Amino acid sequence: CNVALLAGGRSGEREISLASGMGAKKALEEAGFPVTVIDPADKEDLKTLIDGDFDVAFICLHGKYGEDGTMQGMLEIIGLPYIGSNVWGSALAMDKAKAKVFYTQAGIRTPQSVTLCSPDEKSVEDIIEQVGRHCVVKPATEGSALGVFIVEGEEAIADALGKAFAIDDEVLVETYVEGDEYTVAVVGNDEAEALPVIQIVPTNEFYDFESKYAPGGSQHLCPAPLSEDATAAVQRMAVEAHRVLGCRGVSRSDFIMDGKGAFWILETNTIPGMTGTSLLPDAARAAGMDFPALCTKLIELALE
Ligand code: DAL
Ligand code: MG
Repeated sequence: CNVALLAGGRSGEREISLASGMGAKKALEEAGFPVTVIDPADKEDLKTLIDGDFDVAFICLHGKYGEDGTMQGMLEIIGLPYIGSNVWGSALAMDKAKAKVFYTQAGIRTPQSVTLCSPDEKSVEDIIEQVGRHCVVKPATEGSALGVFIVEGEEAIADALGKAFAIDDEVLVETYVEGDEYTVAVVGNDEAEALPVIQIVPTNEFYDFESKYAPGGSQHLCPAPLSEDATAAVQRMAVEAHRVLGCRGVSRSDFIMDGKGAFWILETNTIPGMTGTSLLPDAARAAGMDFPALCTKLIELALE
């Protein structure tokens, strides 16, 4: 099975994608797959992808033009199977604002939010009335916490909106939920199952870009020190999110647990990070599946 490993691309998460690609390449080769690395930011590489004799695309692209359905669309057109969600599920999960509509519809608890398509669509007073003074401003379609600001009060919100709109043309303002951060990966197509829950203990205020990727920037507790009931509850939410967004193969949903023990879903990633410090490979290992076995499983699911 000849694998085209897609890494790099043109999003703000390019560097992370390259690191994910390196991690996955090593694991795929250990599992015995011949691997060709393709960077879709390079036209010649794209030609190789179209003309090459590949059996499956292993997508390690994060964010725009990779995780958002666009690359999946190209792969559909050229008829090459690929790991992960299809065009629609990828596009939906990538847009945090639209994903929240689906979570809410399915009864999955998610923080109250306002979506803006321009910085002056709503006054800051109106925003505060809907989501409160303490909130999180985030670009709707970015990843790795790029352009995410936890802010309090009129001035800070206005300032964060300016910065987030410099990155994206859709911005979400969400009620800040104070608590601990958890993440749950889900593997499977129609019969998806949750992997062990991970608690993320960041060194910084929250699991921002630096905590995610600097060595020692965060600690992963896996399995998370939660009761059986709490573990089952958050795993159910992750599986339900995977189902309601139409995800396939793999997803990883991120949560906050508030002071009362209630979980709130923040987002679902359809191409979770696969770097040396990433969460998905850690969760799989805790389930007895090493990184090569995980990659093999994702390929099997793609070819199902
Ligand atoms: N968006 C990053 C890569 C993640 O969710 O792991
Ligand atoms: Mg994300």
